[in-house]
Amino acid sequence: MSSTNGKTIPKELYPTPAVVVDALMKVITFREGDKFLEPCYGTGAIFNKVPLPRMTKSLAELAFGIDYLTTEFEQKDVIITNPPFSLTEQFLEKSLSELAPDGTLIYLQRLNYLGSKKRVPFWARIGFPHKTPVIVPRPRFVGGGSDSCEYAWFIWDFGSRVALPQGLSHLISEGK
Ligand SMILES: C[S@@+](CC[C@H](N)C(=O)[O-])C[C@H]1O[C@@H](n2cnc3c(N)ncnc32)[C@H](O)[C@@H]1O
Repeated sequence: MSSTNGKTIPKELYPTPAVVVDALMKVITFREGDKFLEPCYGTGAIFNKVPLPRMTKSLAELAFGIDYLTTEFEQKDVIITNPPFSLTEQFLEKSLSELAPDGTLIYLQRLNYLGSKKRVPFWARIGFPHKTPVIVPRPRFVGGGSDSCEYAWFIWDFGSRVALPQGLSHLISEGK
């Protein structure tokens, strides 16, 4: 993810706000034995909220010397992250290649990432996300400064773990 309010942070460390993670956790059902991966841990905003035993959770993070793009992981059932914006395509392709056939892959991304003309071949190659609930209100990433973009969770839910309220294309994140 990257900020659109003019402030740039080195290495693209934009932790996902707690309320945004909480809203997602309310609509996912993890299964016993699920193996989870957070490809870029950051400050653990997502990793620490995944309610699975620690031994079933894996992570990568450049700041810890684990480059996701060059580190091999065994097959995972659930992968959730907010990736470095500039590496989203590479991250997504790798995550899909590591996902179990009945797995669930969830990335936080700007909604307008979907409509870009130059990414049409990319989406044709990897497949469009199955569910894209828009996050309401818009998340704030940088020190309380407001971000003008719409964001959504991009969800490939082969394993049907995510149950969105019927007909709802928004996911309300409560709190400040
Ligand atoms: C937008 S932040 C999000 C952090 C975390 N996923 C979250 O949701 O709060 C992106 C993170 O990706 C890390 N990162 C950047 N390139 C990476 C790479 N090649 N492999 C692993 N982590 C990387 C950055 O250090 C940063 O912590």
